[in-house]
Amino acid sequence: MTKVVVCGALGRMGTTIGRLVNEAPDLTLAGGVDVRSGNFFGVKVVEAARMDALLAEEKPDVVIDFTVAGAAVENVKTAARHGASLVVGTTGFTPEQRGEMARAIEGHVPAVISSNYSIGVNIFWQLLRQAARMLPDYDIEVLEAHHRYKKDAPSGTAKTILQILEQEVGEREKYYGREGMMERGREIGVHVIRGGDIVGDHAVLFAGNFETIQLSHRAYDRSVFAQGALKATRWVKGKKPGIYGMNDVLGLA
Ligand SMILES: NC(=O)c1ccc[n+]([C@@H]2O[C@H](COP(=O)([O-])OP(=O)(O)OC[C@H]3O[C@@H](n4cnc5c(N)ncnc54)[C@H](O)[C@@H]3O)[C@@H](O)[C@H]2O)c1
Repeated sequence: MTKVVVCGALGRMGTTIGRLVNEAPDLTLAGGVDVRSGNFFGVKVVEAARMDALLAEEKPDVVIDFTVAGAAVENVKTAARHGASLVVGTTGFTPEQRGEMARAIEGHVPAVISSNYSIGVNIFWQLLRQAARMLPDYDIEVLEAHHRYKKDAPSGTAKTILQILEQEVGEREKYYGREGMMERGREIGVHVIRGGDIVGDHAVLFAGNFETIQLSHRAYDRSVFAQGALKATRWVKGKKPGIYGMNDVLGLA
């Protein structure tokens, strides 16, 4: 049995993950953490200030975090202090926050950190890498769309897309939306849509003369992220301390 605590328990992802953990025969939901206390799926949710006490009492194997960047950094430090393995899905970290998390994790606990836990997106990233390698002279545009409540923009997934493109076609300037008179250069255009209940759409357009290629992924339900996070939870327990990606979990590395 793998004992799990979910941070961000009362949020959209936390609730979906809590439900799936509760239904999984090999996982035990030991509790949740959020900004206010409550209950989810028959276990208690404590306020963030009481996370230390919850981890001391429940001794979970894995802490899953889907919160906001500032909170996630603190939750990672607390979980690492208690020796819990980590699955971090929160996005929007600054490089400094990433560094802070790495210092808490390296040499102490194993952690999977991914901007997207969907299996489809992880395959999409592989296909994108191949396409970018073969199309270095095409104009490139990145498009993403999410629900009206998403706080960070562009999405963590879009940032990973930009990282992959940069690794394959070299560093290029990024234009976040376009307005006014301008000539197209070697930049990568990045376009963000926020509205309604869109779960998560990402597309990369490669445009040449007389042809375009578009790679795209659409998530229809956030359970695809939650199922991936559960896969990572099962995988991370017992691994050597360090930071891993979904590539490692899925054997794509
Ligand atoms: N990696 C992925 O596959 C993936 C998929 C979907 C969403 N996300 C990311 O996950 C995060 C959460 O997304 P969401 O849609 O569930 O957001 P949400 O706003 O619905 O939920 C976030 C929850 O975190 C709680 N929270 C805030 N501070 C906290 C703290 N200090 N301790 C514990 N809980 C705290 C909030 O009260 C809220 O309930 C975002 O960063 C989002 O971009 C990642």
